[in-house]
Amino acid sequence: MSNPGGHPAGEQEDMTRRAFLGAVGFGALTATLGAVAIGGIRYMFPNVLYEPSNRLKIGGPDRFGAGTVTFIADKKVFIRRVPEGFQAISAVCTHLGCTVNWTGTTFHCPCHGSVYEPDGKVIAGPAPRTLEHFSIELARDGQMVVDLSKVIDASEFYKA
Ligand code: FES
Repeated sequence: MSNPGGHPAGEQEDMTRRAFLGAVGFGALTATLGAVAIGGIRYMFPNVLYEPSNRLKIGGPDRFGAGTVTFIADKKVFIRRVPEGFQAISAVCTHLGCTVNWTGTTFHCPCHGSVYEPDGKVIAGPAPRTLEHFSIELARDGQMVVDLSKVIDASEFYKA
């Protein structure tokens, strides 16, 4: 039988097999290196959940008039100014977590009717305890800062 290329048939078949195996090996190597590279890049940018800050700047003491209760809605906190000083009082009801409203004389929970005194003590309803109070301090720029991660006793005041 004649062979136009001059190579024996077995040798040609061998070259084809060698080329095929080379291509498979190169593909596997490329895929492995690609996976390692992607892993390395992801390692440099980990999945981090950035939580909002617990420190809330509320402005200088002069911003709050004497005898006022000011609601900061996005942080669910009331700033109360009385002759003794300032208090940062949570608006989260201690019963099941609804947001309480300031009526002008008391805090009232619309969900199950708990009522709290202006300093946050419970006077009616199912709420089991006083509204939480947060620490207030003065920043270097003269603004007051509420630390929402620092719960303090309801009898404490920040004196400006
Ligand atoms: Fe406020 Fe139930 S959640 S009284």
